[in-house]
Amino acid sequence: LDNGLAETPPMGWNSWNRFGCNVSETLIKQMADAMVSSGMKDAGYQYVNLDDCWQTSRDASGKIVADPARFPSGMKALADYVHSKGLKLGLYTDVGFKTCAGRPGSRGYYELDAQTYADWGIDYVKVDWCYVDPNGSILNTGPKPDAATWYGEFRDALAKSGRNIVFSICNWGEQSPWEWGPRTGNLWRTGGDITDKWDTGTNWFKGIINAIDENNKYASSAGPHGWNDPDMLEVGNGGSTTDEYRTQFGIWSIMAAPLIAGNDIANMSPETKAILLNKEIIAVDQDRLGVQGTKVIDNGDSEIFVKPLANGDKAVALLNRGAQTTKISVAAKDVGLPVSEGYLVRDLWEHQSKGSLGTISADVPSHGTAMFRVSAAALADLPASLDIAPAASNVNL
Ligand code: DGJ
Repeated sequence: LDNGLAETPPMGWNSWNRFGCNVSETLIKQMADAMVSSGMKDAGYQYVNLDDCWQTSRDASGKIVADPARFPSGMKALADYVHSKGLKLGLYTDVGFKTCAGRPGSRGYYELDAQTYADWGIDYVKVDWCYVDPNGSILNTGPKPDAATWYGEFRDALAKSGRNIVFSICNWGEQSPWEWGPRTGNLWRTGGDITDKWDTGTNWFKGIINAIDENNKYASSAGPHGWNDPDMLEVGNGGSTTDEYRTQFGIWSIMAAPLIAGNDIANMSPETKAILLNKEIIAVDQDRLGVQGTKVIDNGDSEIFVKPLANGDKAVALLNRGAQTTKISVAAKDVGLPVSEGYLVRDLWEHQSKGSLGTISADVPSHGTAMFRVSAAALADLPASLDIAPAASNVNL
């Protein structure tokens, strides 16, 4: 949706994955403080997003009421605090009659709610898809409305509010949001909820690898102002290995996915910080060309993803789905770069240039991902003697 926002995928934090309904103004302020002190703000994270359970009821005029016990200072004061840190505040609601946690939904109140959020100074709204039938169940086993119509009405309500608000569509990939999402919102979920596991098979709750497989299919719909959303990050939540978290962060970035941390950012291990604060990988995600990278080679457990970048470089990810460490290789000339006398390969986890190589290669641990930035070298970039065979046979070195 070209509302001037989300020119690159949104970056921030959200309360749901780690804190669930245990939200309060104290927590949100702590997280805003931590976003600054951890270096996340400097690395590009901007949105502090409050998910379900902040709201309790509507007043006599229909206006939504924040839980007075957990948010005693009110949402306007909270937005002022977050803004004073140079950050932005996000809120959550539902296009249906109730949120997934059973709090008041926005159906019947889209304009009033959008105006209320705007008056409070809210910068981002995530809109869920529970209870779309007033007599139905949480995950809508009964008849469903047309999602494009309801989310379209919400988009119009936000526009009418007069405030710039990022619009996050959260209807779990139902009714093909990659088709109508680009004209409706700034991001749209491509599947059910992420969970802090590697593989959950066909479950509605997606493991990291399941969300990757799903989100990879819709690359052609993504671009500046409108992104596929494989859901929030689980990095640092403890249910997966460091290699699996590297895969989540690395492939999310290759897929130009929103980078919304879902852990306790006030208490992070060095490993978690090294992932979330990897500026070279963030630069891949935030590249201004805005193309979602895709899986280009699938050799069973060894997969290769490539994302074209604005300066002509390619980001290349080598993903190992298997249970053993495996050597994964690809010829540099096979990732879409022009034929060259050599290729400059930089390892984005080791933060090291590997020199000029003809092949991109790594021993990748189980469920891990090696990440590189590769460019076709100009002759001037190349060392006097090369230890590789020229990539193009007609070049005489
Ligand atoms: C379902 C969404 O997909 C989750 O991301 C989260 O917002 C929960 N609902 C909250 O109830």
